[in-house]
Amino acid sequence: MNNQVKILGCGLAKAQQKITNFDLEKRVETSDEWIVQRTGISSRYITIDENTSDLAVRASLQAIESAHIQNKDIDVILVATMTPDCLTPSTACLVQAKLGLNDVPIFAIDINAACSGFLYAFQLASDLINRYQKILIIGSETLSKMLNWDDRSTCVLFGDGAGAMIIGQGSSQLFHYANSEGDLSGVLKANGLTLTQNLQNQIPIDQFLTMQGNDVFRFAVRVLKESIENVLKQAHLTIDDIDLIIPHQANYRIINHVAKRMKVDISKFYMNLQEFGNTSAASIPIAYAQAHEAGLIDEHKRVILVGFGSGLTYGATLIDKVGGEECVK
Ligand code: UT7
Repeated sequence: MNNQVKILGCGLAKAQQKITNFDLEKRVETSDEWIVQRTGISSRYITIDENTSDLAVRASLQAIESAHIQNKDIDVILVATMTPDCLTPSTACLVQAKLGLNDVPIFAIDINAACSGFLYAFQLASDLINRYQKILIIGSETLSKMLNWDDRSTCVLFGDGAGAMIIGQGSSQLFHYANSEGDLSGVLKANGLTLTQNLQNQIPIDQFLTMQGNDVFRFAVRVLKESIENVLKQAHLTIDDIDLIIPHQANYRIINHVAKRMKVDISKFYMNLQEFGNTSAASIPIAYAQAHEAGLIDEHKRVILVGFGSGLTYGATLIDKVGGEECVK
């Protein structure tokens, strides 16, 4: 599908507390060396007392400012998350209230496609753009509340955070691909959520996030390549026509494998996982906002966003000529 939009603004929110690999060495049997070599991650941020909607609001306010619009201009709020504040109201409705928009007519929903959630939300947003003027798309997560801080195979990988983007009608072309492979085997799953305090988690052991890391690794390499190739084909472009690829920030080695298989220089892939770890649905919009802030995205650029996650889900969006306005301070 090919939709025309304009990216009007973007923003991000870091969670309050930075946890380094050295901090985790004191908690579980791991080492900075192992984590860096196997994943590329050096630190991550986790929340102290902010929940998913709070991070979402902070990222949204930055995006609203960079888009030079007012809160009340927003027509739609889509929140991609697998760690909502609660089952209902949706995080999108909480964000609406916290932005002071409870009296403004708004289409507000959450989307759970795990780490692919932002890509799914982006696709829905561009399908809604003919009916609405300004769509706020957020990826926000507090994964720390579903982590077992005694499980070294998962707790070193993830972090909290939020990224936001505002789109309106415009002339950038989007090419989307999204897919899922319904999985009952539990290759990557979690059942429970409570806010973490000082790396303590209160939920029962069978509710923590668990993962078969090697299976997810192989799946990720396969579907990232497939997703990039799909959107390139739709746009009649080759990888050489692309200026920047913003992948889901899970593991440097996964991204490196994809780059090698596609014979693409690794420098074409934007990465901030060293600092943030894997923030699930927030990882792509946080990386987009940082890449923009670093001056890597201007209106002439062709950018691919690509990700994968639990579900199993995956997808990509090719933005042909970002064509946008100022984005992030
Ligand atoms: O958003 C999607 C989220 N998921 C992912 O992206 C995960 C994808 N998978 C991965 O990133 C990698 O599979 C991991 C980083 C999770 C694991 O890396 P690996 O190279 O596949 O290691 P492994 O699971 O094969 O484990 C190798 C060794 C094991 O020890 P033995 O059996 O060889 O003695 C593990 O017990 O490393 C051990 N290990 C650790 N050692 C130190 C596992 N986690 C740790 C740790 N620190 N944190």
